Amino acid sequence: MNTSTSTSTRAGRHYATAFAERFDLRLPLVQAPMVGATTAALAAASSNAGALGSIGAGAMTPEKIAAEVASIRAATSRAFGVNLFVLEPAAPDDATVSRALDAIDPLRAEFGLPPGHAPERYAPVFRDQLEQVIALRVPVVSFTFGVLDAADVTRLKAAGSYVIGTATHVAEGVAWRDAGADAVCAQGAEAGGHRGTVIDAERNPLVGTMALVPQLVDALGIPVLAAGGIMDGRGIAAALALGAQAAQLGTVFLPCAESAIAQDWRKRLLASSDTATSVTRAITGRYARGIRNTLMDRLEAEPARVAPYPVQNALTQELRQAAARADRGDYLSLWSGQGAALLRGRPAGCGAAELIDALDAEWRAASKRIAGCAAVE
Ligand SMILES: Cc1cc2nc3c(=O)[nH]c(=O)nc-3n(C[C@H](O)[C@H](O)[C@H](O)COP(=O)(O)O)c2cc1C
Repeated sequence: MNTSTSTSTRAGRHYATAFAERFDLRLPLVQAPMVGATTAALAAASSNAGALGSIGAGAMTPEKIAAEVASIRAATSRAFGVNLFVLEPAAPDDATVSRALDAIDPLRAEFGLPPGHAPERYAPVFRDQLEQVIALRVPVVSFTFGVLDAADVTRLKAAGSYVIGTATHVAEGVAWRDAGADAVCAQGAEAGGHRGTVIDAERNPLVGTMALVPQLVDALGIPVLAAGGIMDGRGIAAALALGAQAAQLGTVFLPCAESAIAQDWRKRLLASSDTATSVTRAITGRYARGIRNTLMDRLEAEPARVAPYPVQNALTQELRQAAARADRGDYLSLWSGQGAALLRGRPAGCGAAELIDALDAEWRAASKRIAGCAAVE
């Protein structure tokens, strides 16, 4: 068994793990990158509060990435992360696009939008984004949807970046380790948002966080971060007990004052239950977990019309943007993890710093409880 999570001390300061020490973290916590939700303000506030803040930049142009990184750097001198989607350029045939639009157009019409058409580009060019983060010398760069080759990992490291790959099962973790990644984010089935699965993706393996983290810890020999369903200090302590060096929390940050999500999304998160989410590929063409709503139901009704990611994602985008403008959560992609109902115990709309203070106190109390149980033995 790998026991790489032993605590460490630097200059009189005690760190929970080597990962926490490396980034001088008050607690072993990563504020997860989330396209559509994370902002420079959220990342900077999280880093300033002693976690590792991050932004989801998978949907950003290189120019936007540079502007966001500049905003974060203006607000904090601490480490932060930028996350990208490893994607090949999409070149769907006309039939795939028109089949998908046949299902999407009636929904667009309900928002007063004309019939959709193929966009010039389905997603930003990944290679251009990668060149940008290398040029910007971003402290932590994480990836999902694919595995980088060793040459790219080497270039990132030469630029001073710490590289984190996402794994939803052990083979993906091994692929990232062999490519030279510094750490792997173990994305359990409970996690909100898109599944990072790249190997065996059609089968949609859904390994839970509790099972995934120790299997990756044992297999890899590099730091593992635990993501999926962790909503409070109990969860952070549990992740560390499983051998993770930090917990990556996404859903718990969604209602924060600095998050970019629509009001109705916030309301639906706070009103959700343990069974409120499902994993679907109908909205974007890639499996993702979110709160069930009308958009999910209607697009799932015609599975044969769903185009692969990022085509379906681009084709449903204007509709979801119109829904956001109208604050209509029934037609948004309400990405959320299975722990969303645990948000109800927290003050609504608090800032990231207040949330991180609470998480810090909670995980310290939970760790003491665990240590107390061991002492009883
Ligand atoms: C709204 C939302 C958007 C997300 N976007 C991304 C993303 O852009 N890149 C990524 O690697 N993970 C993304 N994720 C996954 C998170 O980084 C994280 O792994 C997950 O939220 C952890 O599970 P939890 O939501 O149960 O805390 C997203 C999650 C959510 C809820």
